[in-house]
Amino acid sequence: MKPVYYTLILLLLITSCKNTPQKTPEQTIGLTSKNAMVVSARKEASLIGTAILKQGGNVFDAMMATELALAVAYPYAGNLGGGGFMVYRLNNGDIGALDYREKAPMAATKTMYLDQDGNVIPDKSTLGSMAIGVPGTVAGVFAAHKKFGTLPIATILEPVIALAKRGVVVTEKQAKHIQAKRPLFQKVNKDTILFDADWKANDTIKYPVLARTLEHLVKHGKDGFYQGEIAKTLATFIQDNGGIITEEDLANYEAKWRTPVVFNYDDLKVISMAPPSSGGICLGEIMTMIAPYDLSTYGHNSTKAIQIITEAERRAYADRSYYLGDPDFVEIPSERLLSEAYLKDRMSDVSFDKATLSSSLKHGNVELVESDETTHYSIVDQYGNAIAVTTTLNGAYGSKLYCSELGFFLNNEMDDFSSKPGEPNMFGLIGAEANSIAPQKRMLSSMTPTIVEKNGALYMTVGTPGGSTIITSVLQTILNVHEFNMGMQEAVNAPRFHHQWLPDEILMEPNKFNHETILELEQKGYLINEKDAPIIGRVDGILKREDGTLEAGADYRGDDTAIGF
Ligand code: DON
Repeated sequence: MKPVYYTLILLLLITSCKNTPQKTPEQTIGLTSKNAMVVSARKEASLIGTAILKQGGNVFDAMMATELALAVAYPYAGNLGGGGFMVYRLNNGDIGALDYREKAPMAATKTMYLDQDGNVIPDKSTLGSMAIGVPGTVAGVFAAHKKFGTLPIATILEPVIALAKRGVVVTEKQAKHIQAKRPLFQKVNKDTILFDADWKANDTIKYPVLARTLEHLVKHGKDGFYQGEIAKTLATFIQDNGGIITEEDLANYEAKWRTPVVFNYDDLKVISMAPPSSGGICLGEIMTMIAPYDLSTYGHNSTKAIQIITEAERRAYADRSYYLGDPDFVEIPSERLLSEAYLKDRMSDVSFDKATLSSSLKHGNVELVESDETTHYSIVDQYGNAIAVTTTLNGAYGSKLYCSELGFFLNNEMDDFSSKPGEPNMFGLIGAEANSIAPQKRMLSSMTPTIVEKNGALYMTVGTPGGSTIITSVLQTILNVHEFNMGMQEAVNAPRFHHQWLPDEILMEPNKFNHETILELEQKGYLINEKDAPIIGRVDGILKREDGTLEAGADYRGDDTAIGF
């Protein structure tokens, strides 16, 4: 049976390249710059982010500009109606993380996606008004700006509003995304929405309503979204479409500063996102589990390297499904999960001769102290500050419900909760009690915005979309640079594979891995799936090279573009 999540990853990431895998580009050195760099899913957003830096703004000013420009230029995943995570490292070495993840509405219940017999109701957590979590993006960009921003909001939003009014040229990939989703836009929305038209590559879509919403934010700030006119319009719209989000839910939403997950790998210090994202803990578990093995000697994408990484991924994702959820609701044994002793023990039964079967493996035993279509952008500014930001509506265009009065799509992030223990979500991820639905709880994420330091200095900022494959794509990009001496663009271009405990198979980008290696892995008991994901992830990263210059890695798998100066 074809796992649902592969189909979803395929639909989310690759509507543009259907069954033909994209050829890895010749270009192996990314754009380089001396001072600053923005890498994002759209050129328009990278240009606007860079323009804000050129006006003297810092990474946090550029974050607001880039994030909101993506809401205009990349409605597939850029958003006002979704949420995200940001990890930062200041030029003085201070680090931190911002959680602007969506929350379950107050009227949410544990069994809201189950029928009378306790079965999951198809599509209810993914399509339309019931799939929506209370959006966090506006709170996120305003929280980051309030703490660290230097330019006035009006200055930052001026080019974004101008872009919305001027319009954005549709790319080939975007035209395909829109056409592929038109039947769902029609199914979910009562009226014909802006995107339900025969948009073709090179057409220009103008966003006057979104421009008006953004102008409202310039005048009224964060509260202009979560209270008053916009909040009333939004809550009424969602309820008129059968949803349960209220004005009170919006008024209660706050972004939260979190302490990032930090761990060492060789001479690197990795700084990544804390729960409610599983990204940092899973990345930390995997990297600590593989650290004792000499990957560079095994060789890039060699049988032994793939085996070790796969076995570590299998174990980390099993832990994810059991232990991880919103830290405001569940106690997460982070320290134990990341401890070397625990992870060494977790790998003690790994053999190079034979694959571990996922069915023979569950989450590890960690004693608790008490009883019991996303997009990523990376920015480095001319002052040496860095951010890694991943933001999402979850699926492509989220719930597909588009608020025409305000000009944006609403997320379907509620599907990231575990609707029923043991039942896979759209990424095939299985959850348990820790990630069950509760009012005001944040759903567990895989988003892994990550910054890496080397010798106490900034080394990389990296991240990607891709649902459950996010963590393993970030992992491989870091390893490609550190273990296999690649530059950032080369590391981003390199073929990717993925294992997530269940289903028990290695997902591989097709026709990119050595045939002999695949045969060897199969002989050792690994199931290889080269069919279902023509591409895995769309990584955007920046590497600070030894000579101090910045090198971008903008993923050829999307329309991703780096701009620097
Ligand atoms: O937070 C998460 O893990 C998911 N909502 C991310 C979704 C995603 O990456 C979709 N893009 N391909």
